[in-house]
Amino acid sequence: MTALPMQSIKAAINEVGFAGQSFISINSMTNEQLISLFELGKKLELMNRDRWDLYPGAITTLLFFQPSTRTRMSFETAMNRLGGNVIVENSPATTSSIAKEESLSDMLRCVAQYSNIMVLRHPDSDAARDAVNYVGDTPLINGGWGHWEHPTQALLDLYTLYRKFGRIEGLKVVVASTDMIEARTGHSMAQGLARLGAEVTIASPKARRVPSEVIENIKKNYPSAKIEEAFDFNRKSFNELISTQDEVYLPGCSAVAGENAETFKKSMDDYFVEHETLDAAREKGHMVYVTHTLPRRAGEMDLAIDDTPNQLAFESILHSVSIRMALLASILG
Ligand code: CP
Repeated sequence: MTALPMQSIKAAINEVGFAGQSFISINSMTNEQLISLFELGKKLELMNRDRWDLYPGAITTLLFFQPSTRTRMSFETAMNRLGGNVIVENSPATTSSIAKEESLSDMLRCVAQYSNIMVLRHPDSDAARDAVNYVGDTPLINGGWGHWEHPTQALLDLYTLYRKFGRIEGLKVVVASTDMIEARTGHSMAQGLARLGAEVTIASPKARRVPSEVIENIKKNYPSAKIEEAFDFNRKSFNELISTQDEVYLPGCSAVAGENAETFKKSMDDYFVEHETLDAAREKGHMVYVTHTLPRRAGEMDLAIDDTPNQLAFESILHSVSIRMALLASILG
């Protein structure tokens, strides 16, 4: 086992200044706290493949009302790496007393008393946002709430960029989806990027543009932030835009069934990331990274990109453990 610089890790945890707080939005932390969290994440990379008894006895409870692979398992991994314990309820609609018509508020009132931290994923963002009122002093983390926000996904993707470039400021990023209304990871990421000084373009069909609160939040609180929308691309114009960017961020989309399926498929085709675009830019000395937040579906990007240095989607996975360790540690204090 590597000897850890424990004093410097403790100092980095204190530097974030987030002990005992809930993380429900990417806007729950200041810019300074986000950067301190990234610096803590760097230190914790030393610990992300082993178990360290930093928080023996602490319990993180995971309540997942929607399916998950990465968010649920990386929080489990992170808490285990920190030496704590995890309770997981991953089918509460069938295996908890929610199945007996218990309210979410009653459930949370109880579970909060077992937990040092709770992570909630829920399909109804209004119900989830109301949940904060029922957890008492137990910090609550948003693990993906409805179509509103998925801030820890944004944390890990921001952190991956921070590790790649050493900064967020000045990066050019397009956040693109055929459906930016429902793209909760995109909502969190666009705000985090713009707040930290990136130049952000949100690309989508105008009919499925990002909810106005995403842009309004940023413009109100960070008037000099660079964030704009661009609409109604076709595959050629979209790939032309991509070729000028440092990253293409794909928050994914839910495939539409029934009579609108063909229209949706055509729209996906308009926002398809071609590997030839990235290859051509790379040959000219410009790297365009591609992150898909996963899970992805066929037709969103050329899977050949996975075998190129442009892909960040899988490179971000181990970073997700380090940054979720950092988040848990900064809340546990
Ligand atoms: N990106 C993400 O949230 O993945 P999961 O749904 O598997 O957690």
